[in-house]
Amino acid sequence: MKIGFFQFNPDFGQKERNLEKVNSVLREVRDALLVLPEFFSTGYQFIDMREVEEFSEEIPNGPTTSALIEIAKTNNLYIVGGLPEKSDRGYYNSAVMVGPEGLIGVYRKTHLFFEEKLFFKPGDTGFHVWQTEVGKVGVMICFDWFFPESARVLALKGAEIIAHPSNLVLPWCPQAMLVRCLENRVYGITCNRIGVEERKTPPLRYIGQSQIVSPEGSLLYRASEEDEELYLMDLDPSSAKDKNLNPYNNVFDDRRPSYYGVLMGG
Ligand code: ACM
Repeated sequence: MKIGFFQFNPDFGQKERNLEKVNSVLREVRDALLVLPEFFSTGYQFIDMREVEEFSEEIPNGPTTSALIEIAKTNNLYIVGGLPEKSDRGYYNSAVMVGPEGLIGVYRKTHLFFEEKLFFKPGDTGFHVWQTEVGKVGVMICFDWFFPESARVLALKGAEIIAHPSNLVLPWCPQAMLVRCLENRVYGITCNRIGVEERKTPPLRYIGQSQIVSPEGSLLYRASEEDEELYLMDLDPSSAKDKNLNPYNNVFDDRRPSYYGVLMGG
C-alpha cells in the first residue's frame, strides 16, 4: 500500500464542490492510506454559531463521511479527514478514519486552537490507534502537535503512523513534527490546506507544506506552501516498531514515568 495526502484549498461553505473535488482526485488512487486536511469539506473560518450548526454533520450518516466511505470501498483506501461533527452532546472538531469496511473510528480534537474555542467543545474521545492494512494508524488534528503528549500517547498506544489532518496557520509545525516523529520513532503524515480565508479579521493564511516524516526524523517529502498537490509514496511502516536507538537505549523502555508525575497533574 501507498501512503500520502491531498493538499488543496477548500472553498468555505461549498461542501458539494469540495467533496466533488476530493472525489475526482481520489478516484484515481487505489490501495493507499490518504490524509486530507482538517475541515476539508466545509472550510475553516466559521463566523458564528449559526454557520457551525448549518455545516456540521452527523457521523457516519452525513454527506462527508458517506462520500469518504463510498470511495474507500470502491478503491480500497483508508482515508483520514477532518469535519465539524454534530452530535447529541454538541459540536466537535473531528476527524474520521474510514476504510474499505466503512467507518473505522472518530477522533475529536483534544486541543482546540484560537476561535475554535468559541464554537466547538474540547474533544472527549481521547487518542486512538486503528489497525489498517498499511499498519497501525493514530490520529491527531492540527494544533494537537503543539502538545507533545498527543504524539506520545499515540505512539505508546502502538501507532506506527500518525495521520495529522491540519489547517496550519502558525509557522512552526512542519519542523516540530520532525522532532515529534524522531522522539516517538513513528511516521508522520501531516496534511495541511493552502489558501487564505478572509471572512473576518484576522484573515487566516494557511501554510501548506504538507509532509511525510520518518521515524528517524527525516523529511521524506514536503509539499509547497501554495500549490494543490496529491502526493503518494511507498512505505513499509514496520521500522516504526523498533524503538531502539542503539544497544543501550530504547526510547520507550528508557522512559522514567515515576518522575513524570507533574504531567498527570500530580
Ligand atoms: C489549527 O489547529 N487549526 C491551527
